[in-house]
Amino acid sequence: MRRLWNLEEFPFHPEKLSHNETLMTIGNGYLATRGSFEEGFTGESVTTMVHGIYDHADGMLVPELVNAPNWLPIKITVDGTPFKLINQNEMNLTPKNGALIGYRRNLNLKTAVLTRETLFRAESGAIVRIVFERFASLADEHILAQRVQIVAVDGSPEIEVEAYIDHSVTNMGAQHWGKIETKHDQNTVSVGATTIQSGYRIGMSSVLLSDHKVEILMDTPHKRAVMRTHFTLPREASTTLYKFSSVYTSRDIGDPVLAAQRKLQEAYKTGYDALLQAHCKEWELYWDSSDVQIEGDESAQFALRFVMYHILICAPRHDDDVSIGAKTLSGFGYKGHVFWDTELFILPPLTLTQPQMARNLLMYRYKRLSGARNKAKASGYQGAMYPWESTDTGEETTPSWGDPQQDGTRIRIWTGDSEQHISTDITYGVLQYWHWSGDDNFLKQYGAEIVLDTAVFWGNRVEDKNSRYELSQQIGPDEYHENIDNSVFTNRMVVWHLEQAFALLGWLKNNAPADYQRLVKQLDLNDDRLAKWIDIIQKMYIPFDEQKQIHIQFPGFFEMEYVPVPHYEPRTASVQAIIGHHRTIQTQVIKQADVVMLMALLGDKLAGRDVLINNWNTYFPRTDHGSSLSPAIHAWVAARLQLGDIAAEMFEHAAEIDLNDNKGNVRDGIHGAASGGLWQALVLGFCGLHLDDNGQPAVDPHLPAHWKSVSFTVYYRGEKRHFTVNNPVVETLNA
Ligand code: BGC
Repeated sequence: MRRLWNLEEFPFHPEKLSHNETLMTIGNGYLATRGSFEEGFTGESVTTMVHGIYDHADGMLVPELVNAPNWLPIKITVDGTPFKLINQNEMNLTPKNGALIGYRRNLNLKTAVLTRETLFRAESGAIVRIVFERFASLADEHILAQRVQIVAVDGSPEIEVEAYIDHSVTNMGAQHWGKIETKHDQNTVSVGATTIQSGYRIGMSSVLLSDHKVEILMDTPHKRAVMRTHFTLPREASTTLYKFSSVYTSRDIGDPVLAAQRKLQEAYKTGYDALLQAHCKEWELYWDSSDVQIEGDESAQFALRFVMYHILICAPRHDDDVSIGAKTLSGFGYKGHVFWDTELFILPPLTLTQPQMARNLLMYRYKRLSGARNKAKASGYQGAMYPWESTDTGEETTPSWGDPQQDGTRIRIWTGDSEQHISTDITYGVLQYWHWSGDDNFLKQYGAEIVLDTAVFWGNRVEDKNSRYELSQQIGPDEYHENIDNSVFTNRMVVWHLEQAFALLGWLKNNAPADYQRLVKQLDLNDDRLAKWIDIIQKMYIPFDEQKQIHIQFPGFFEMEYVPVPHYEPRTASVQAIIGHHRTIQTQVIKQADVVMLMALLGDKLAGRDVLINNWNTYFPRTDHGSSLSPAIHAWVAARLQLGDIAAEMFEHAAEIDLNDNKGNVRDGIHGAASGGLWQALVLGFCGLHLDDNGQPAVDPHLPAHWKSVSFTVYYRGEKRHFTVNNPVVETLNA
């Protein structure tokens, strides 16, 4: 069982440094810190990200989440030899640098505690065992705790320990902290810093506790205060040190440095063991509703816990003004920007297992309606058009240009202009949350305004052409094909959106007449506007091939070059990388689930089984899975279509994205959408959880043949519902 809750690294794998650094991120919904080492290591990307702290550095195209000062540093010397991880092969060559003779690291997913055991031989020959442990408290999100146990295994070494806060951090070279001040008193060190453009202030304080005297010295070259202790450790004796840190920002409180200093006093009075106990208790509550148990497939079991862990450590608990970026809080990828990844991939597991956190994420969008209205207005439309990439301001923050390519040229990025389906994706998230949670107050006060004002946008955005309604210059989920006309995904989802807007208006009229009146007036939902919505629902162009009985991804798609994607197996790169960007965009190679995504979202409301199967047979063999968002959606849809083997294969593919780094970019952060997608593939796909015609939760399972059972819990209208789904195939085999 231990394996099923523990991510282990044994022995040290320097070649997987950045991969493991991402996987071993810890967090508590307020901040997250990558699994970098206390003593540092060349090539690390030491990162702590605090939700909501964005800054737009000079010379950069867009704002990004800022790397906060590093609270981890604890440097130990053993008889004068600095403790550090040295490649096992190098160690014999350079004994004067000491040698790492034992290493095991473990991230406990159940408790979010990261532990590292090491054995180190100093140049003097003394051997010490050093065990590091850290956690970001879930019981009090402003507290970070570290423990170091040192045992003299051989010899009686002189030990020196230095701990500090490193404020010399950047975002891969980009400087965001302007005014940095360091302070210290008799026991603690503090850093206050302000972001250059956005003016957010952070306060961080640390204390080092030891059985031996700790003094504070100034490290003038680095402009920091260092807490230092030293002692002799008799052979076989051991000692334990603690470092507590606290973080606040100006988003929380007026004087974050003072608040951090005060919280620190509280932390060390409480003590490590009590803090750890409170933290673990909170995690128990998390898992009580968010754990899924799979009998019969340990890899799938572990993968599910791993993805849910990563969603839980970045989901805001007490803050409804922030959201989750595409790479969670675990790396610099996509600069901490929020995409459709949140509402369609990451949100559903929270809606169903942690509804309060889902509500927080949706409130982030509500509070950014003004950004969405600004975007619509700037583009000449009415209503609210959400940005493709969003940060703290809610304005469009998609960069217009990509990073320079090898030849120095940059590719124009059109998603901020044309990937407009995001407004409907957010509406999907709002309504899914409402149907499952029954949170009518949320809907009346906030959610309805999102659904209706984005509907106003679509009503105004569509083009009345050729006796039907069309949408030109779109990008559907398949981003290889840009600025196309009539993406079937977008057009069909717009029809769905307007239908939902109507149903919602009817509900409001009957159940919340005052809110109905308010919204009709505020959003100018006059008769003409509503009549146009009906007309659009009836006359929107849904590209469909009557003869082949398939949806057409967009008109002209099948006139492009056909590339036999399955023949490119086994490949380690995307087909796009193999045949090049310029050729790919002129072929039928699809980046990710597009028509298949539509099938996932609308299920049999899209079409009967024959058409769905035809769609699958058409689009699956053309799909590159060039985005990590793709495999889990395919697993989900294949499971619903009862394509057992493919569903299992796609599920495995999705499960490996981060754990095996099969896209080679996990160093940039966890793939948040793939994580949420995996949970959906399991619960909505394999188990077939849905709301039946009476609005009651029901399952319709098609589990992979070798699974015995799946158990999970979801919240339905404030109550917990537990499901266990047994696999009939396995039961028959075992009978
Ligand atoms: C995908 C998008 C996704 C974005 C952020 C892109 O590669 O095509 O669908 O929103 O990554 O994860």
